Amino acid sequence: MKIVDSVNEMMKISQTYTGKKVGFVPTMGFLHEGHLSLVKQACKDNEIVVVSIFVNPTQFGPNEDLDSYPQDLQKDSSLLKAEGVDYLFVPKAVDMYLKGFETSIHISHLTDHLCGYYRPAHFDGVVLIVNKLFNVVKPKKAYFGRKDAQQFRILRRMVKDLNMGVEVVEMPIVREKDGLAMSSRNVYLSAEERKNALALHEALTYALNQIKSGRIDAHKIRLEAMNIMRKHPLIRIQYFEVVDEKTLQPVSTVDSKVIIATAAFVGKARLIDNEITEP
Ligand code: PAJ
Repeated sequence: MKIVDSVNEMMKISQTYTGKKVGFVPTMGFLHEGHLSLVKQACKDNEIVVVSIFVNPTQFGPNEDLDSYPQDLQKDSSLLKAEGVDYLFVPKAVDMYLKGFETSIHISHLTDHLCGYYRPAHFDGVVLIVNKLFNVVKPKKAYFGRKDAQQFRILRRMVKDLNMGVEVVEMPIVREKDGLAMSSRNVYLSAEERKNALALHEALTYALNQIKSGRIDAHKIRLEAMNIMRKHPLIRIQYFEVVDEKTLQPVSTVDSKVIIATAAFVGKARLIDNEITEP
């Protein structure tokens, strides 16, 4: 595995693929089995696999965890090498965002609710960096996790709207044995917070089972699920919503495919999780 830290060098490499199938997994590092599930799939599907690790400053708000975001490049690179990744791209922020940078991209309605509402500039930063990474890495296929369901739908829209010609693949959520969705931010949790954090999955599972059993009253289900989370004193709910799977707009009745999505702070960790289901 070759580690590339220069944007120019990565651009030169991506001009030499000569028709090969190139798969790409963008990450912010501190890798866990969730990230590795995307890497494994990319290695199965492609002849060349590129993974990027870049803690992208433009997708963090002013009071968020940019400066404390966990990092372990040595461990990450040995994990990726073991998977058979060809290139690990680790650009520096000053190289990615050159002096004088002033371009922005905004995606409208898909960013209105869920995380987009609470992290106003977040998805502008995500679409910008993924767009830039696609231009540098030039993949045919890129892999993302359903853990970030809103992110995936926004990126899928961007790729289509901008004719980017990259196939985006959504992979299932990888969970710990007890149901907690794997996240680099789980490392922030104390033992007590870790127990409380399980309530996200518990509440989502409750809502999921209610819909599976035939209930369609999204608003009531949502309130009941939030009450499950409220029993855990260390949880501060940001949102718990039932939204249309395609438009990401909240629904009052479950009459099509929906995403049940939640975000909550447990201590200083902001955790997100979701389930997708149909009536
Ligand atoms: P990051 O949080 O590092 O996640 C990288 C990819 O791993 C994303 O596609 C995310 O959905 C996926 N992922 C994270 N946890 C997962 C889990 N438990 N199961 C399955 N997939 C999981 O998402 C980002 O980075 C950034 O926003 C990025 C797209 C790299 C742009 O900066």
